[in-house]
Amino acid sequence: MKYRTSISMLLAAGISLAATAQTHNMTVDVANPAATIQPTMYGVFFEDINFGADGGLYAELVKNRSFEFPQPFVGWTPFGDVTVMDENPAFDRNPHYVHVVNDGRLLRAGLDNDGYRGIGIKNGKEYRFSVYARTSDSRPVKIAVELINSAGDNPVKGELTVTGNKWEKYTLILKANYTDAHSRLRVLLPDKGTSVDMDHISLFPVDTWKNRENGLRADLAQAIYDLNPGVFRFPGGCIIEGNSLATRYQWKNSVGPVENRPLNENRWNYTFKHRAFPDYFQSLGLGFFEYFLFSEDIGAEPLPVVSCGLSCQYESNEVVPLDELEPYIQDALDLIEFANGDTTTVWGKVRAQMGHPEPFNLKMIGVGNEQWNKVYVERLEMFTKAIREKYPDIKIVGSSGPEADGEKFDYLWPEMKRVGVDLVDEHYYKEPNWFLANAGRYDSYDRKGPKVFAGEYASHDHSANKHNNWRAALSEAAFMTGLERNADVVLMATYAPLLAHFDAWQWNPDMIWFDNMQLMRTPSYYVQQMYGMNAGTDVLPLLMDGKPVTGQENLYATAALDSNTGEIILKIVNTGDKNAEVNINFNGLAKKSKIVSGYCTYLQNDSLIAENSLGNETIIPRTRPIKVSDKEIALDLQPYSFGVYRLQVSKK
Ligand code: AHR
Repeated sequence: MKYRTSISMLLAAGISLAATAQTHNMTVDVANPAATIQPTMYGVFFEDINFGADGGLYAELVKNRSFEFPQPFVGWTPFGDVTVMDENPAFDRNPHYVHVVNDGRLLRAGLDNDGYRGIGIKNGKEYRFSVYARTSDSRPVKIAVELINSAGDNPVKGELTVTGNKWEKYTLILKANYTDAHSRLRVLLPDKGTSVDMDHISLFPVDTWKNRENGLRADLAQAIYDLNPGVFRFPGGCIIEGNSLATRYQWKNSVGPVENRPLNENRWNYTFKHRAFPDYFQSLGLGFFEYFLFSEDIGAEPLPVVSCGLSCQYESNEVVPLDELEPYIQDALDLIEFANGDTTTVWGKVRAQMGHPEPFNLKMIGVGNEQWNKVYVERLEMFTKAIREKYPDIKIVGSSGPEADGEKFDYLWPEMKRVGVDLVDEHYYKEPNWFLANAGRYDSYDRKGPKVFAGEYASHDHSANKHNNWRAALSEAAFMTGLERNADVVLMATYAPLLAHFDAWQWNPDMIWFDNMQLMRTPSYYVQQMYGMNAGTDVLPLLMDGKPVTGQENLYATAALDSNTGEIILKIVNTGDKNAEVNINFNGLAKKSKIVSGYCTYLQNDSLIAENSLGNETIIPRTRPIKVSDKEIALDLQPYSFGVYRLQVSKK
């Protein structure tokens, strides 16, 4: 009778039955946590791609500061008598320097640096200029230093005086009186008849992350910190492998005084054997010490990855013979000593000399990036044996190759089990529909084998030129419910790549875009942040019609307990174009316990092709309170929405 009444009421209100939203009933089992969510679950993968390190996170503003690029004036415009030399250099591993003479033929002699697609200068901010210099002149030599905006007017000026024929470091602070994204740095000899040698010409903002002199760009570092990452994987990516073995990432070159870290080609200087970015090199100023320090700063477990003796298998595909692999393995062992060894060890002492006598407490290491075939497995086995022997507590991360499935993947997974690595790094750059269809990917994974590190993934919407749009981010949010539900198998997950310079990128989509002045967080950034800030500690079983919610009725959901606060956390995605009504019952709450309050943080947009833009982020998290009632809640999910619900539970 009641039923008939409600139908006639609906009809009277002009609402057809077909259009009436069905209510979906979900249950959360609060009493039976299914798995522990590791603190490493949501993390960050960092690589110097898209000018991510030099020109990005590393706050150095001068490109080719040591004149070591194969063409030593790349980045520089010399004027007057300027010669590159290497006799009696200041730094033996970076021997080039410039000899500048003001011979009076021109008014001045010197050189301009145009930074990384310009130098970003902000009005009122201070910049630390430094140079190593010497002069063979009998009297002191003046060096003028200027910041020049793109119009070329009103430079900010400073001056140094160089004395003597020994290399010395000279520093001055310049305070900007203008704002411009494409400034230049000019260093010149204003006086006739003077000459000087200069090397390692450097300019940093004074305001770096934590105000460190060899520091990180503060806004980018802060944005990474704000993700609340549990793990930090570095330094790549393909740059670990290099275009060739000679240009692989060698961590030992990236520690010690920055001035003497030898320049290395960046693998992203090439794209598919084509030299697309000839000015892309690695200064290694952001090196392994800085990466460990940053991991510590952001509260993430460091995950360094080392070359396994294979150069990029997409590029030169060079292979170190097995009987010549020992130095590569030694590098991995020494890296563990650098991170964890006490200050009496060779590499622990280097760490201490760099200012960090305490160990970095490294717990895991990646061997190889996304390698494949038998050549990889043979080398991985040798690394694994040596690392296990010397450091049995260190977890080893192997690879399942560059794809989420297929021949390489199918060969590698059983091999990873046989070799006995602790985690397998999976990579997938796929269409949004793949992410939606794979929300249940890990439900059937072997619970007894190595665990999964979803080390590189991103939704690539080819229908929108792989832009960072809402469709891509929403599909990632949906997929990630499956990562969390399977936290007993998936211990870590990191989106890739992290950073991209608007004017110098090789790969899209990326999580954070930036120019020389500011940054833009993509919808994918906010998805990652909402997961990272709301990871929870234990998975709670959540079912709809007795099944995990992996896309039925366009819904994806997972539930967790935060044992630190006692809150229940739900993550629910509605990929449909209509509202969805959901009732959620919480089973297993103590008799007198109830849900007392709750709020929702959500991302929503009616357009799947909507994007954020620089200076105008429209897809951002918003919050709203939700209605709760005793042991259940009723939610009205907006179309195309991702919500995180934090529910407070009374104890009695
Ligand atoms: O994230 C960009 C690249 O994708 C990584 O360097 C590599 O591991 C993968 O091919």
